[in-house]
Amino acid sequence: MAISTDQRSMGAVAMRWHGDRLELLDQRLLPAGEHWVTAADASAVAQCIADMVVRGAPAIGISAAYGVALAAYNARGNSNWKAAVRLAIDELAQSRPTAVNLFWALQRMEQTFLTCASPGEAVELLAAEAVLIHEEDLAANLAMADHALDVMNPQQAIGVLTHCNTGALATGGYGTALGVIRRLHERQLLDRVYADETRPWLQGSRLTAWELMQDNIPVTLNADGAAAAILASGKVKWVLVGADRITANGDVANKIGTYSLAVLARYHNVGFMVVAPSSTVDMALVSGTEIPIEEREGTEVREIRGIPLAPAGVDVFNPVFDVTPAGLIDAIVTEKGAVRKPDLAGMRALFA
Ligand code: MRU
Repeated sequence: MAISTDQRSMGAVAMRWHGDRLELLDQRLLPAGEHWVTAADASAVAQCIADMVVRGAPAIGISAAYGVALAAYNARGNSNWKAAVRLAIDELAQSRPTAVNLFWALQRMEQTFLTCASPGEAVELLAAEAVLIHEEDLAANLAMADHALDVMNPQQAIGVLTHCNTGALATGGYGTALGVIRRLHERQLLDRVYADETRPWLQGSRLTAWELMQDNIPVTLNADGAAAAILASGKVKWVLVGADRITANGDVANKIGTYSLAVLARYHNVGFMVVAPSSTVDMALVSGTEIPIEEREGTEVREIRGIPLAPAGVDVFNPVFDVTPAGLIDAIVTEKGAVRKPDLAGMRALFA
């Protein structure tokens, strides 16, 4: 059971499933080298998610699903296999708090788990469900690219700006916002991508620029602070971003710095589009104020790979996501379709 064959034409491969282990491309080390980490149990997968070996909302959910499948595989000879799988689900749920795809995937795995009558069935059905989650994510990305182009309807090649990494590395393949960029490029409707470097973890410079260059898609890397000048220049028609959690009213949690881009886009009359699968939508939360926002270690801001960038011990505020209010968003695109000028009614209609 491996999805990697089909995935190869869909951009970089972030994970490889082997039934008894999950291999994850170590995204902490890119672009310096392509190293794979092998996770042979659910705890190792949870650690890889927490440490950002694998990151990006859909990829986190898919990896967690494989983690549950591994728990069933490892417990297949134990009389307490049910307790082992439950423990794994709980442990994986603790790995990161903001991306709802994690909890969505774990819930799906739990539903499947509840139907399993024997350890053998658990091994088989949980692995099949994880692969299905992976495949569905790839299919969702391809569908979203179609919907997004319908909304954008570009008449000629356009410039776009993106933030963080929403590509094949962050998903089951192809990408969300970066998938839309791929589709524009395939249709010769892309002039250039401006990629925010995305301080402090540098997903834009280390991952997005790398993915785009691998696929010969024209990219210019910019410091986050340059985004205002780029939007003011008129070179960009759309800002395209992904999401970690979208609430019922259309508010969007995404990588820190997304909110300021949305303000800039509105000021400069540039379109602002959020591209995310329905597994990122949390209709149980009324608004973005309810989203748990992860804060990570100050060292991520204070230093880079051990090199100090700030006075030792300086106090740091390091929230890794922010919430963009729905009112600043022109369209949310999911595989189910697009919601223009998102609000509660529009989101409900999409999910009815
Ligand atoms: O901290 P990360 O790298 O997991 O954050 C990733 C993002 O914020 C992405 O924009 C989001 O998950 C969408 S990925 C398709």
